[in-house]
Amino acid sequence: MPPRKRPEDLRSHRWLGVSDMRSFGHRSRLQQMGFDATDFGAKPVIGIINTWSEINACHAHLRARAEDVKRGVLQAGGFPVELPAMSLAEPFVKPSTMLYRNFLAMEVEELLRSHPLDGAVLLGGCDKTTPGLIMGAISMGIPAIYVPAGPMLRGNWRGEQLGSGSDAWKYWTEKRAGNITEEQWNEIEGGIARSFGTCMVMGTAATMMSIAEALGLTLPGASAIPAADSGHPRMCGAAGRRIVDMVWENLTPEKILTKSAFDNAIKVHMALGGSTNAIIHVVAMARRAGLKLDMQRFDEISREIPVIANIRPSGKYLMEDFFYAGGLRALMRELAGKLDLSCLTVTGKTLRENLDGAEVFQREVIHPLSDPIYAEGATAVLTGNLAPRGCVMKPAAAEKRLLQHRGPALAFEDYNQMAREVERDDLEVTADHILVLKNAGPKGGPGMPEWGMLPIPKRLLKAGVRDMLRISDARMSGTSYGACILHVAPESFVGGPLALVQTGDEIEVDVAVRRIHLHVPDAELARRRAAWKQPPPRYTRGYGAMFSEHIGQADEGCDFDFLAAGAPTPEPEIH
Ligand code: FES
Repeated sequence: MPPRKRPEDLRSHRWLGVSDMRSFGHRSRLQQMGFDATDFGAKPVIGIINTWSEINACHAHLRARAEDVKRGVLQAGGFPVELPAMSLAEPFVKPSTMLYRNFLAMEVEELLRSHPLDGAVLLGGCDKTTPGLIMGAISMGIPAIYVPAGPMLRGNWRGEQLGSGSDAWKYWTEKRAGNITEEQWNEIEGGIARSFGTCMVMGTAATMMSIAEALGLTLPGASAIPAADSGHPRMCGAAGRRIVDMVWENLTPEKILTKSAFDNAIKVHMALGGSTNAIIHVVAMARRAGLKLDMQRFDEISREIPVIANIRPSGKYLMEDFFYAGGLRALMRELAGKLDLSCLTVTGKTLRENLDGAEVFQREVIHPLSDPIYAEGATAVLTGNLAPRGCVMKPAAAEKRLLQHRGPALAFEDYNQMAREVERDDLEVTADHILVLKNAGPKGGPGMPEWGMLPIPKRLLKAGVRDMLRISDARMSGTSYGACILHVAPESFVGGPLALVQTGDEIEVDVAVRRIHLHVPDAELARRRAAWKQPPPRYTRGYGAMFSEHIGQADEGCDFDFLAAGAPTPEPEIH
């Protein structure tokens, strides 16, 4: 056991514990807010970073949950202070929350650095908030515990269970095909989101909350607790108590986030059939932790770990069912033989100790390894002359006939052109065509919007086609499905081979051998490259311009170059 910190070792001591003109000001301003030395003297100061906002339904309960965290901090002898951070509501923030994930990461890091804080409790859950909070906390390096917002309750429509996103896509497709009425569509709108909390399919939010737990950054079992369950505020109180001890123990993220911890998280991601978005976020988090991780590692692990969680969009059930089935502890117990159980977690205990006693209660929701939902993992990483640095696909969510396919490209230069064309009744397209969308990547979007599940052309929809191969440098929502090849790197906007694809070119995809190939002679590609011109940047000022200049490619985790590397940032001077 390392020695516990003494009060004078606390980071906040530099602000509050010394006797000079500046500390007089710090203490008098706390007294101005009604606190005195019995509140803040010689105690760990815990920053509760809260991504609550009035326009984020996934986080609507986090204002109340911060009070539960505070209760725990006070019980354990700490001094809690709540600091708001950017909320990033997936449905409302345009053009894409991905444009702002790094903004949140920067905000978190600098909030923690610039204030007299000894530890942090991070409140979030909607897709980009989890990686944003964690990336910032890793770079700052003080003890931190992540509190997942938890999934919302199951959706309901005429007795049918509805899943966030996935069923919206499904019924929107049926509406475009003329199979459901406007009235039915409106009923679905009122029934699909029944409580506060995140999307309750295995979308990006549930995937990232689970990954945070698998990394050891949450209390055991925290990630699947429904937001509206009374266990959720109890978990928040426990997190508040635990972070105070983590400060005294100096249990910093670097001690938890080892290479093995990331391998564990990727294995859990595969077993869950998790969102493709997670690949970008996990790579970014690992690189913040100083670990080299690339997309190939996901492919290696995906061949070893089957999908055993029967959760939409790859399976049948929802996160509420997963919680009743035993949640992530039960799933990790099932995977125990594949995990490194010696990894340390925020509890101060190993994963092995945290999983002790975990059980699967419903076998139809969490399958045994011997009877998986899908024999190979959730994600395939393909490479070839069309994606020299890789691209990703979720084979479990695609029609099998498309996993080995060669067909002509139907190429779109940008999203607006694609959106217009797919609605045309006279569009020349067959189910064997491969839709290609350009200029939707990190710089081209910019912000890599979730445009990767390109709509099936209306003409084919009416003929009953529900899946076809689609290729882009965009992402897709974790709630989406279909034979969508995403994250093509390098992206078309910077001159990646995707930029050179023309309608009629033959493209071949073979998922079993992880290959994607553009059947165009090299000499012709060289001729097209010589004629290619980069489109003008969308933003020439402000954050968007900074984003476009510094954002990395998908295979690098889409972090800013100036955040991913470099010497540690010094502690602020207090003058
Ligand atoms: Fe927030 Fe899906 S919209 S998690």
